[in-house]
Amino acid sequence: MCGITGYIGTNDAKEILLKGLEKLEYRGYDSAGIALENRDGIHIFKEKGRIADLRSAVDSNVVAQAGIGHTRWATHGAPSKANAHPHQSGAGRFTLVHNGVIENESELRAEFLQDVSFKSDTDTEVIVQLIEKFSKDMGTEEAFMKTLRLLKGSYAIAMLDTQTPDTIFVAKNKSPLLVGVGEDFHVVASDAMAMIQITDQFIELMDKEIVIVKKDRADIYNLQGEVIIRKPYRAELDVTDIEKGTYPHFMLKEIDEQPLVMRKIIQAYQNEDGNLEIDSDIKQAMGATDRIYIIACGTSYHAGLVGKQLIEKLAKIPVEVHLASEFGYNMPLLSAKPIFIFISQSGETADSRAVLVKVKEMGHCAITITNVPGSTLSREADYTMLLHAGPEIAVASTKAYTAQVAVLAILASDAGAATGAKAELDVVKELGIVASAMETLCNSKEEFEKIATEYLAVAFDCFFIGRSVDYYVGLEGALKLKEISYIQAEGFAGGELKHGTIALIERHTPVIALATQFGVNGAIRANVREVAARGASTCIISMKGLETEGDRFVLPAVHELLTPLVSVIPLQLISYYAALHRGCDVDKPRNLAKSVTVE
Ligand code: F6R
Repeated sequence: MCGITGYIGTNDAKEILLKGLEKLEYRGYDSAGIALENRDGIHIFKEKGRIADLRSAVDSNVVAQAGIGHTRWATHGAPSKANAHPHQSGAGRFTLVHNGVIENESELRAEFLQDVSFKSDTDTEVIVQLIEKFSKDMGTEEAFMKTLRLLKGSYAIAMLDTQTPDTIFVAKNKSPLLVGVGEDFHVVASDAMAMIQITDQFIELMDKEIVIVKKDRADIYNLQGEVIIRKPYRAELDVTDIEKGTYPHFMLKEIDEQPLVMRKIIQAYQNEDGNLEIDSDIKQAMGATDRIYIIACGTSYHAGLVGKQLIEKLAKIPVEVHLASEFGYNMPLLSAKPIFIFISQSGETADSRAVLVKVKEMGHCAITITNVPGSTLSREADYTMLLHAGPEIAVASTKAYTAQVAVLAILASDAGAATGAKAELDVVKELGIVASAMETLCNSKEEFEKIATEYLAVAFDCFFIGRSVDYYVGLEGALKLKEISYIQAEGFAGGELKHGTIALIERHTPVIALATQFGVNGAIRANVREVAARGASTCIISMKGLETEGDRFVLPAVHELLTPLVSVIPLQLISYYAALHRGCDVDKPRNLAKSVTVE
């Protein structure tokens, strides 16, 4: 949700900032801008649209060794050139980019900025105008810190000051930001991926810290001006992880990476005896709890629904799954010894973080399951379990979902040892079988492309139905299809259709049914017959051993508790091809951003 870059060194900043923004485009892509600082002053270029639009707007003759950049996902004010960052203070002294939301912007406008005429509708402009106002009576650093102390909400900020050249002022609270260190330069970036091409050394920033960044030094302070010493760490990112390579889209690459991710997860959680094991503190906490509350959003929430089944069946601990965005208003009566599990690919989702902050204040134990080590949710929880999926760049989540389910299976199975539940799953063996089944599915792309063409080429809507865990996978299939192809899609519990939704079924309505569960195989097929009788075009995806004649695709058999890991792949691929054939921007669907850092 908005991406920030900054560079100060000896090379031309322009290209470094633009390349960095291209890597951050997944965080938002409705407008973008850069500010370049050289001896002639500050040069701002901004454009509505993608980084490619910004690139064509930048004057190639401007050469500068310092600058800041921004790619935006609009929160305050429509996507437009005027609302695109960087924003400047009235007199043009300060130029600033911001990721986050300033919750008290109206109060700040009313109290301090009544005489200022604003050029945009953004909350960001309040920050830069405040800094200019305060700088009339104090130095830039003091004005910067005074402003930050007044802000309520989230921010990652990079700022240039014409009166303090060769310096980038950086600050962070709740939104991610890193400072990268090079031989004779420093960079600023919302994540390490943006700058990994030029450095792998990064300084992690904590909330309410500022950094005064120069070519050859980066000094960290807290908002009281006290010095903080922190050494850089090495970002373990493989450059090929963040390139599409020969793939037309990141989404397709990430779908194909799923078998490898399963194997990486097995490796990462395997102990010396070859068994999968979780951290002993997490195991102890799981053994001591009387109820688990899983909190997540979107695809991660769908993984949580599968996780509930896994934990209840394998560890015999009761589990509730909640949407993070609703939990604050509908907090259930908690059990005596609750544990919270936050599932978040990015580890930055503001809705989930709001719940994490609340439950930590209440003194409860929190585990974060995330793909991003060092992310906010990881840092703020008591324990972290990593997904080891590698960077997920396509906005639509695929490999993170299956990684989440696999890690939840490991957690459930090992927690079973702590609760004394009899383990029913040889996870190493079964995840190995899953990885091979995934490979078979990834090699069957033409089949799923055919299904997409046949059922969805001219469809306005589509239903995904299933029972038990297939219902949860259907929810994920529907989310995938709607977010990238813009086809109205719903996931439904097969048995619920007749209670209302079946009214929507008409001639040729596509209904994709999952039949991977022995106990409900007959029942889901009865639901398929009900919709077929009303004209629906039905497509059954079943599992080896449960198939009947006429099934459109039969998945390789895997353990019944792990079927979501394979049944989701056809749905990911069908969604991909449906979106592709409709000419949609598969990796960057409209109105979305990968990392949702606003509530
Ligand atoms: C859908 C998708 C989103 C995310 C959701 C939570 O494909 O990616 O629904 O799952 O925004 O994001 P994380 O997992 O980063 O908390």
